[in-house]
Amino acid sequence: MAMILVIEDDSLVSRTLVSHLKKRGLEVKLAETGEEGLELFQEFQPELVLLDIKLPDINGLEVLKQIKYENKHTSVIIMTAFDDMKTTVEAIKAGAFEYLVKPLDYLELDLTIDKAFQMRALEEKVSYLIEEKQKEYQIDNIIGRSPQMREVFKMIGSVANTRTNVLIQGESGTGKELVAKAIHYNSPFKDEPFIVINCSAISDTLLESELFGHVKGAFTDAVTETRGKFEIAGKGTLFLDEIGDISPNLQSKLLRVIETRDFMKVGGEKILKTEARIIAATNQNLKELVAQGKFREDLYYRLKVVEITLPPLRERREDIPDLVAYLLEKINRELKKNVRKVPPEVMEYLMNQPWKGNVRELENALTRAVILAKGDVILKEHLPFEPAAQVQAQEKSLIPKELVPLWEVEKRYIQYVLEVTKGSKTRACQILEISRPTLDKKIKDYNLKVETSD
Ligand SMILES: Nc1ncnc2c1ncn2[C@@H]1O[C@H](COP(=O)(O)OP(=O)(O)OP(=O)(O)O)[C@@H](O)[C@H]1O
Ligand SMILES: [Mg+2]
Repeated sequence: MAMILVIEDDSLVSRTLVSHLKKRGLEVKLAETGEEGLELFQEFQPELVLLDIKLPDINGLEVLKQIKYENKHTSVIIMTAFDDMKTTVEAIKAGAFEYLVKPLDYLELDLTIDKAFQMRALEEKVSYLIEEKQKEYQIDNIIGRSPQMREVFKMIGSVANTRTNVLIQGESGTGKELVAKAIHYNSPFKDEPFIVINCSAISDTLLESELFGHVKGAFTDAVTETRGKFEIAGKGTLFLDEIGDISPNLQSKLLRVIETRDFMKVGGEKILKTEARIIAATNQNLKELVAQGKFREDLYYRLKVVEITLPPLRERREDIPDLVAYLLEKINRELKKNVRKVPPEVMEYLMNQPWKGNVRELENALTRAVILAKGDVILKEHLPFEPAAQVQAQEKSLIPKELVPLWEVEKRYIQYVLEVTKGSKTRACQILEISRPTLDKKIKDYNLKVETSD
């Protein structure tokens, strides 16, 4: 049962109030002074406090501050008389949830209490999620004991507490974003935003307004003023992914923000300041792009104050067993499966693959093997490299040579998945991440052949 603490010195008010709350099914504690209120608060840790702002001993505002200091999730509703308005405003500033004017309107009181409980539940959920997120990016979630990875950990440790720009280079799937998040979530600014911008996914104009924001009317679609990521990031981190792809125009604008820390919105005239840290990543060789004249040298040097290069997986094969164990845990947790056994010959096989897509490719291969597994063992035949010749031939024909409409690709792919799952629609749905009715409809629409097994 939810508990509520009433701190009210006027016994006439408190008597009716307490009986009203009890009727609503709440457990109620009553204190008649601020001192007593704080004692009861510590002892019972109630979810909600109804606080009279005028108390005989301590100022209600002080009681509020003390309660908020001890547990910032506790909702405090202030009860106030009209002549207390100045204090009431102060109380709201100090974190009170709402104020009610005496004599109390019980309908309003009930609504406010409901709202406060909802808000508290929401706040607790959000702070739980933030904590989970921070845990997810602890350094121990980056797996690797190879000398190259040890070097990477050292670098993360030494830059986390600084504000310097970092350039992370490495092939696709080597963990660049993971490392960027680890730096952010291990820094003193971990509660500030971590914002990802993929510089290759959007057009130049759109990217510029994403980064800097725009004023109303800056271009045809600019119907309202927006804030750019440099502003939204606050003291947090701006992760500029695929930095090698930005245009010369944006390269010079970026250089300017990095050098002066100030920028203007697209179409704007006011100079704004940014405090964000920049972490850039690329799977291209930036130095080469500089040599080819495609990337500004001055910007390159500004970005790579600290440089972290992630090794491809094939150059640190000794990390594969640890990675397999870690990734299997993660995959099983997500898919609610229990496929954890990897026979030695399968592990050896995994250690000898080229892994062009690095850790991401390993993760995808294991996900597929976990989905396809019948028991609790990872089997070679469920790994994507040694499929029967027939499946390989089909795999090649998945993307047609000629240009065809999207539905044609979808049709071929669904057919392929149904063949791999040997007609199991349940497994096909898991792999395709679509519902059974959707799959059935597509089978019917595309007139697909299925040797049904479930
Ligand atoms: N050392 C590692 N330990 C555990 N998981 C890892 C490691 N490296 C990468 N991963 C996982 O592999 C996947 C790909 O990593 P990430 O997205 O960071 O790669 P990336 O280098 O940014 O790739 P891309 O260049 O394609 O964007 C993620 O799911 C990530 O959690
Ligand atoms: Mg990435």
